[in-house]
This record gives sequence, structure tokens and C-alpha cells, in this order.
Amino acid sequence: MSATLPTAQLADRHGRVARDLRVSVTDRCNLRCRYCMPAEGLPWLAKPEMLTDDELVRLVSIFVALGVQQVRLTGGEPLLRRSLTDVVGRIASLEPRPRIAMTTNGIGLDRLAAPLAAAGLDRVNVSLDTVDPAEFADLTRRDRLHDVEAGMAAAREAGLTPVKVNAVAMRGINDHSVADLLAWCLERGYELRFIEQMPLDAQHGWDASSMISADEIRERLSERFAITPLPAADRGSAPAERFLVDGGPATVGIIASVTAPFCGACDRTRLTADGQVRNCLFSQRETDLRGPMRDGASDDELADLITGEMWRKAKGHGIGSADFVQPLRPMSAIGG
Ligand code: 5AD
Ligand code: SF4
Repeated sequence: MSATLPTAQLADRHGRVARDLRVSVTDRCNLRCRYCMPAEGLPWLAKPEMLTDDELVRLVSIFVALGVQQVRLTGGEPLLRRSLTDVVGRIASLEPRPRIAMTTNGIGLDRLAAPLAAAGLDRVNVSLDTVDPAEFADLTRRDRLHDVEAGMAAAREAGLTPVKVNAVAMRGINDHSVADLLAWCLERGYELRFIEQMPLDAQHGWDASSMISADEIRERLSERFAITPLPAADRGSAPAERFLVDGGPATVGIIASVTAPFCGACDRTRLTADGQVRNCLFSQRETDLRGPMRDGASDDELADLITGEMWRKAKGHGIGSADFVQPLRPMSAIGG
């Protein structure tokens, strides 16, 4: 890392500062969740288009020098990157050491949780939308529920806690079983958060009227549990509105990304597996870092490209407004 890099912040013109970097380490996945991908998968990035480990770690180190305090590894499915444990170890040795989290579908975590924790991974979020095997197979188009459950147990064993669970409810698929999922998570000490489905699927099948809203989730959970809001005071940039379940201490989160956007408090920025910096999931543009890096750009020059892209960050995602346009890249190629 060049000593001349200023400890500049990743500020934008709306007064926000990014501290949380999401890195997509691969666009591939072993599931085919309906809200994400078509059944046949997607045209994956070719190897030469992907950042090498050295390139990825170098870019993360520049983000850290620019004030990033948490790095979240995402995909596609991050565990499909063979060098992941190594990458985690290298990120953990950066100064100052960022917190390292991962969003995974859990498949393969039964084997990898312990080595990843040893390498420096701090926490995981596992995507799990239902614990009904038939619903799981319908929603993800793969019969892998047991692998996910085993992965979550291994994560808890390895101390990657609290194990958080991300769930998306889809009408007619798993919307009637959200209380079962909560009961299952409560029994195991997993922290469940529901996320409203966003228009990020490659096949552009999202439709506002069929989306299960945060209010609807809350109603469905209330059929079985007493759900009471926690004071919003310490929410900060955390997008989940949290509720006490049956008086606590257990909680459930509901992320109203569409019906109550939290863009005003956003502290995120993103790096794609092919080395593009994106200032928002919904951005219509991105800045290429891979090309300049391969052409010999210095850390300072790359830092300028990053801060320039951040400065252009839009005020909000505008889902629901008449001129909203879905991003060209699907979620699996951006990184959650
Ligand atoms: N809307 C909301 N959440 C989504 N995820 C993937 N696609 C969508 C979508 N269209 C979730 C995954 C995972 C995280 C990265 O984002 O379930 O938990
Ligand atoms: Fe894979 Fe995640 Fe997309 Fe599901 S949502 S297909 S687990 S990348």
C-alpha cells in the first residue's frame, strides 16, 4: 500500500460515507433461486475477466485505506471460489483489520466454516427462505436443504456468530410458512431477517403487486407470535427494522427495502468479481478498476477512480418511480 494514500473517505454528494464494502468473489451459484436466476443459470464470467486473488486483495486494501471498516464477501455463492479461505486470511491481515463477514447460501459451509473462521472470517449471513424441503426445492430449484442446515450448524460451531438468516418470501411459494421458518430459527438461536423482494432478478420477473411486503410478513408472523417493534434508536445504517418475538429476548428483522427504503443511511459500496466499483445495487453505471489496474495504475490512481464513483452515488434507488430502470447486472453478478 502506498504511503501517500490519503485516509480520504468514500463520501458522496448527499452526505453519506461508505464504510461497508461488499465484494462479489464469483458470479456463479449452485442454486437457482427464483428471485435471482433463471432455471438454466446465467452466462458466467470467464476466468480472465475475474479478478485474481492478488488483484482482489489489492483493491480491498485500497478501499480499507479509504475508510472501509467492514468487508462482506458475497457472490453468486462465495464458497464456490476455491481460494476463498486464502483471500479471507489476506484481508484479515490488512491494517487496520476490517471486520469480515460473508453472505452465503450455506452449501459447503459444513466443511468450510472452521477453516474460514480460523482464517479470520467473523460472521456469516445464510440465505434460507424456507425449512420445508419441497418449498426449498421449488424456490431454489435444487434439493439441497440438508446441506444448508448442516452448513449453518457448522457456522455456529465455528463461532461465526450470530448466524444471521436472510429470507425472501415469494407469493404462492413460501409466504405461508414464514412463521415456521421463524420458529425453526428461534429453536437454534439463528437471527432471522426477512427482506422484501427487489427487482434484481436476471429474468426481470419482479412485480410490485405480487411482492410480499414488510407489513404482510409482520401480519403473517403475528398469527403465531407476539411481534413488537424495538425502538428504532440504535438502527443506524442497519436496514432491518427489528421486532421482539413473544416479548424477547429473541428478535426478528424485517428489511423493507422497497416499501420503506433506507438509502438515506446507506454506508455501502460494492466491488464486482470482474473489478467494477458500484456505488449502489441499483446503479446504472460502474467504474472499471480491473482495466486500469492491469494497465499499471498506481494505488493512488485507483483510489481516485473509487472516490470519483462514490461521489456520483444517487440519493435513492427509486424503485416504484415511473422512470425506475432495473440494473443491467443481476444480483448474482453484483453481490448482495
Ligand atoms: N430481492 C431481495 N433479496 C435478494 N437476494 C437475492 N436476490 C434478491 C432479490 N431479488 C438475497 C439473497 C441473499 C442476499 C445476497 O440477497 O437471498 O440473502
Ligand atoms: Fe444463488 Fe444467492 Fe442467487 Fe440463490 S439468491 S441463486 S443462492 S446467488
